[in-house]
Order: sequence, then C-alpha cells, then structure tokens
Amino acid sequence: MDTIKITIDGIETEVIKGMTVLEAARQQGVEIPSLCYLKGLNHSSSCRVCVVEVGPRLIASCTLIAEEGMKILTNTRKVREARRASVELLLSDHNQECLSCSRSGGCELQTVSSTLNIRKVSYTGEKSSQEKDYTSPAVVRDASKCILCGRCVGACGTMQTVGAIGFAKRGFDTVISTAFGRPLAESTCIDCGQCIMACPVGALSEHENIDDVWRELSDPGRYVVVQAAPAVRVALGEAFGLPPGNRVTGRMVAALRRLGFDKVFDTNFGADLTIMEEGTELLSRLGSGENLPLMTSCCPGWVKFMENNFPDRLNHLSTCKSPHEMEGAMVKSFFAKQAGVDPKSITVVSIMPCTAKKFEGQREELGSGGLQDVDWVLTTRELAAMIKEAGIDFLNLPDEDFDNPIGRGSGAGVIFGASGGVAEAALRTVFEITSGKELETVEYTAVRGMDGLKENVIDLPDGRKIRTAVVHGLGNARKLMEAMERGEHSYDFIEVMACPGGCIAGGGQPILDAVTAARTDIRAERAKAIYSEDEAQTVRKSHKNPYIQALYEEFLGEPNSHLAHELLHTHYIARR
Ligand code: FES
Repeated sequence: MDTIKITIDGIETEVIKGMTVLEAARQQGVEIPSLCYLKGLNHSSSCRVCVVEVGPRLIASCTLIAEEGMKILTNTRKVREARRASVELLLSDHNQECLSCSRSGGCELQTVSSTLNIRKVSYTGEKSSQEKDYTSPAVVRDASKCILCGRCVGACGTMQTVGAIGFAKRGFDTVISTAFGRPLAESTCIDCGQCIMACPVGALSEHENIDDVWRELSDPGRYVVVQAAPAVRVALGEAFGLPPGNRVTGRMVAALRRLGFDKVFDTNFGADLTIMEEGTELLSRLGSGENLPLMTSCCPGWVKFMENNFPDRLNHLSTCKSPHEMEGAMVKSFFAKQAGVDPKSITVVSIMPCTAKKFEGQREELGSGGLQDVDWVLTTRELAAMIKEAGIDFLNLPDEDFDNPIGRGSGAGVIFGASGGVAEAALRTVFEITSGKELETVEYTAVRGMDGLKENVIDLPDGRKIRTAVVHGLGNARKLMEAMERGEHSYDFIEVMACPGGCIAGGGQPILDAVTAARTDIRAERAKAIYSEDEAQTVRKSHKNPYIQALYEEFLGEPNSHLAHELLHTHYIARR
C-alpha cells in the first residue's frame, strides 16, 4: 500500500495515499468534528464544520485528499472561529425544541455544538417555517430541524436508488423535498427508514406508536401479544450501552413481560413457517417452470420497491406473507382457539428492526375476517424507549424464554435477520425434503457476508439445480433486476432485503453517529451475533421445529394447503 508523509499540527505522520485529511487525522487520533460527511454516502462538504488550515486557506477536510508534504493545522483560532460560525448559522435557523426531540441525546448537531463550546447563537434573522409531514405510517419528516446536509438524499437516492427526496429551490428557500412537494405518503418512498439512519438530527424519525401500545397494555379488555424479530435481539443492547454484537434475547423477553404483554412470542416461529410455505412454493414453481425466479417477499421495503418500479414482475414475488404477518395470523386463529380467547380482543404488537413494517402492518390485504394480522409495529428504538420509560433495569434482568405453542423458532428462523439468511434457511429445508437425506453441514456460507451479490447452486436428487442469488440494499437489487431484464442472469430463487446487510441494519435499529459508524463494522458485529444464536440452537432447520410440525398436524394440514393459503399468503398491488 502506497503511503505519503504529511504534517498534522506540527507532527509528521505517514498515511495511506488517497486518504482524506479527515480520515488521516482521525487515524492519528486527532478528532476533527464533522456533520454533513457520511462515509461512502455523502461527500457534499456543505456544512464546513470540518475545516482545517492548509497554507493560507480554510478547507473542508472531509473531501480534501492528503498530499505528500501537506501541512495541516486543525486547531488554530481561525479554524475554531470558522467552525463555530458555521454551526451557529445552522442553529440560527434550527427548530430548538431539543428537549422533546426524538433525537435528543443522540443528535449530532447537539454533539458538535457542545464540542465546539457554543454557548450562544450570534446570528438572528428570518427562520424557515415548515410543517411536519405525518402522512406516512413509517417515516415522519420535520423540515424545521433539517440542516440541509444531504445525508438522507445520499441514502435514499445513491444507496437505495429510490430518490423519493431531493434538494429543491435555491438559497435560503432550499429544502429537502419530495417530487412537487407532495406528502411523503404519496411519494415513491418505500418506507425503509435508511434516511432516518443517515439523518444527523431529528428531521427524520419513525412514526411513533409508543402511546398506542401503552393504551392497549393498560386496557383490561385487551389480550396483548407481542412478537420480536431476530434482528432486534442483536441490537437492543446498544440502546443500553452494550457494544454492538451483544445478544440480549433472554433479557428482551423478560423486559417485554415486565411491560405487561400477555404472551411473548418469537417471530422466528413465523420465519420457520415462511420457509415451509415458501420452500413448497419454490418446489412447485420449479416443477411447473412458471414464475421463476421466485423472489422472497419477507421485506416490505423490497415489496413496495417492486410494486413501484417493476409492477409487471410482481408474479415473481412469493405469495407468502412476511414472518411477523404469518405469526400474527396464527395468533388470531390457531392460538386464539387453543387459548380460548376471542380473536377480536387480541392485539398483536410486532417489535421490528424496520420502519417499513409499520406500513406493511396497515396493508388491507394482510388480515382476515375484518382483523389485521398485526395491529401495531414498534421499532427496536421504540421498544428501548418504552423499557426506559417503564424504569426497567434492563441490564440486570434475568434471561427468560419465549412463550409457546407458536412462539419458539429454529436456528434457521433466527438467521432471517442477516442478508442471505432466508435463502440459507430455505436451502436447508428444500435440500433435506427433496433428498430425504440429512445435511452434513447446515451452513451455506456462500450466501453469507456483505458482498452486494452472492450466489449459490445446489443439486437436487432428481438432477435439477437451484441457482440462488442474494442481494441486499435496493441499489444492488435494482442492478440485478435490470441485468435480468437484459437477460444477463438466470436464477431460480432470489432473496432481496431492502437494507444493506439485511434486517440487522434496518431503519428501526439503534442509530450510530457518523463518527462511530465509520469506525465500527456494526453490520458484521450484529451478523456474528445472529449466526451465534443459530449455532446455539439444537434445532437448526425450519421443518424440524416440533412446534411447526404440530401446527401443520393440528391445524394447517400441509404447506400450501387451502387453509394455509387463506391465512398465510397474500397478493401485491401495481402502484405505477
Ligand atoms: Fe466536512 Fe461537512 S463539510 S463534514
């Protein structure tokens, strides 16, 4: 690797050629504040918070490439005053309801203001006035807090290729807007929440349903069942100060009981059920040769992306509902009957790493008998907020186990949380069912990891092959769809997750500030925790889950049966 020598604050140092001054300084332990910079996503150098002195000039260090012999000063009076002036200008037009802001305590503008010792705002003048946009069930926009850094635009446009929001107007009137300023709910937004993860302030947040769930919990007439997705347990601990990659499954279950839920189920059971239904659907499509490749439908962001962008390809999507919707459908049918509870009095709450699940939960086609399968969806962040509000000492809770009979999943269910997990879980089951043999190694490592496109081929006993592709992040998904339209790829089964890395990095997970995010491979840490939970299970295949077997024996009959179709499958809507 080529290196160069530069001088930072009088100290000569050797850094990798091609690095920015910001990266080089941070590597040497010199902390330069930044705000608009988001590694790999936003290099607009619009905020000027990261300026350094190079010769007579003040230059933004986040986009300045270090050059041999460069002399950089990061802490002169001129630098400090310029940084403060930039931040004070931002504050002068910033809604300062900080105490009630959803990002209070985790706001990067707050952190930078504090770091720069800003005690007053010297600038006064006109303030932009913007209304909040609550129209989306998933994402709330509050333009009065927007600092126009463009990080959300990078996430939505560059990374996800959705482009629901972008810069509009000029000068003081500049705003981040949807096309023609339409409400977010009427835009092309697919609810993934990656804009929230990118936003350094409280201009973007999830549409909170905390009070709705508190109301249900305090109503003695409601039987409130909660379920938690696999990705939640490997991130929730971060909200309580644990490092990324800590599994808190048992403590999470204990906390949910203390919040007052009547039953605590694991969405992994719904994931196992998805494999039974989707695996059968795959074998049936392979048999008929119709509607191949089969594409997964677990991810509501991906489903809406398809509905918006590839409406004539909706026949490729699996008709399976997503795991938490399947779980909800089973709670209000099989479980209600077993427990002797009127389904109308049951409220199902899903704890998800995802904001798009909030939109999905409200889809009319995801319910039966006039009841939605899932009534409320809370993100991992909202669950953490409820636990804190309830005064629960989360870190010192004892481990507790999920309830049953439809609340326990296999190792295959848990890996749904990481990109490649659905494909791996399906392959474990499809191989064993078609071959009648037990897999010697259950891990399909080719579909694991963070490569944008992962591929795997398995041979079935009758000579057929299953060619599988896995993509994550909608930018990668669009590339794959377009390549397929050009006839460049031929697969039988494709797994897509809208968020890069899969649900572990969903838009509802705890938010890392940009500096920490650049230093921590949070996706890798959370994925490691997911795979370790799989390894710790005695049952690691969906079809071997005894509770799944009992569900088919006692209620559903067989996968893809008439009843299974009625309760566990759905259809999609062309939105263009
Ligand atoms: Fe460098 Fe904003 S200009 S962080």
